[in-house]
Amino acid sequence: MALLEVEGLRTYFKTQEGTLKAVDGVDFILEKGHAMGLAGESGCGKTTAALSIMKLLPANGYIAGGKINFMGQDMARVTGEKLRAIRWRDISIVFQGAMNALNPVKRVGEQIAEPILLHEDVDKEVANKRVKELFELVGLNPTRVREYPHEFSGGMRQRVMIAMALACKPRLVIADEPTTALDVMIQAQILDLMKTLQRELELAMIIISHDLSVLAETCDTLCIMYAGKIVERADSVEVFRNPQHPYTQGLIAAFPNVKGERVMPGAIAGNPPNLIEPQPGCRFAKRCSFTKDICLNQEPPLVEVLPNHYAACHLVEPR
Ligand SMILES: Nc1ncnc2c1ncn2[C@@H]1O[C@H](COP(=O)(O)OP(=O)(O)OP(=O)(O)O)[C@@H](O)[C@H]1O
Ligand SMILES: [Mg+2]
Repeated sequence: MALLEVEGLRTYFKTQEGTLKAVDGVDFILEKGHAMGLAGESGCGKTTAALSIMKLLPANGYIAGGKINFMGQDMARVTGEKLRAIRWRDISIVFQGAMNALNPVKRVGEQIAEPILLHEDVDKEVANKRVKELFELVGLNPTRVREYPHEFSGGMRQRVMIAMALACKPRLVIADEPTTALDVMIQAQILDLMKTLQRELELAMIIISHDLSVLAETCDTLCIMYAGKIVERADSVEVFRNPQHPYTQGLIAAFPNVKGERVMPGAIAGNPPNLIEPQPGCRFAKRCSFTKDICLNQEPPLVEVLPNHYAACHLVEPR
């Protein structure tokens, strides 16, 4: 059985202008110990998809449909005590921008001990010992557990966030833009760390980024999201070598090479569509260079176009 199976997930937000369909039919399967990348432009629904899995949506957000099967339980329906037991113990998340959200007046070690004391029946001594082990695991000097966040660099604070996510030994860690705020050198170190941890602890990971270079080396599989939907899904290598969807091709074309200038995926002309009243047909049609009539009228389903390679595009023949 796969660790996580997401099927037809729809997550909507109530807004003054109407219902915003942030995630609008997302399917994927994550195997135990695998890393999956979730990529796409700002606003395509990456964070909303992650928060749905954790059931940590803001008050105006709700799961409008679909299944989130995690270790045999449908997260879309789990509530109360049962939900609390799964969160942090089995699934944890490194929030977007979280390294800047550490409590400035609390010692770093104490902050990592908190989830341990909250979720496990252990005393402070045991928790503190675990904190030191976690420090070591993420490459921080355990003698520094009593320091405050301002004494740590950005990269070290991100290591702290990763340690916190690992505190209760989860099966799945979701990392939302884990390296976006860091410079390129530190970015590479954090990605290396995540890869090592994933392998050594047999962790499953979902890594979210708008930057494909972050996902290229870290992830086994990749999901490309556009306007609330997955437009392409396959093994990472396959997506990079043989992208099928015009949006993915655009993202990869904008993918900076090591020597070249850094170009953001936004280099694809135009803007994503309105998610309150999405246009009929393919949501990418207005920005696509290959649009045909059918693209404007009929929504393309996500279908297998090559072995184990899925795309949602009328221009690509189903397998
Ligand atoms: N609380 C909210 N209320 C209303 N709309 C929201 C709320 N949170 C997010 N949205 C909208 O949902 C859509 C998806 O947002 P989300 O944050 O999931 O995107 P993202 O892919 O994570 O983007 P980024 O790369 O900028 O982090 C966007 O249109 C966003 O404006
Ligand atoms: Mg986000």
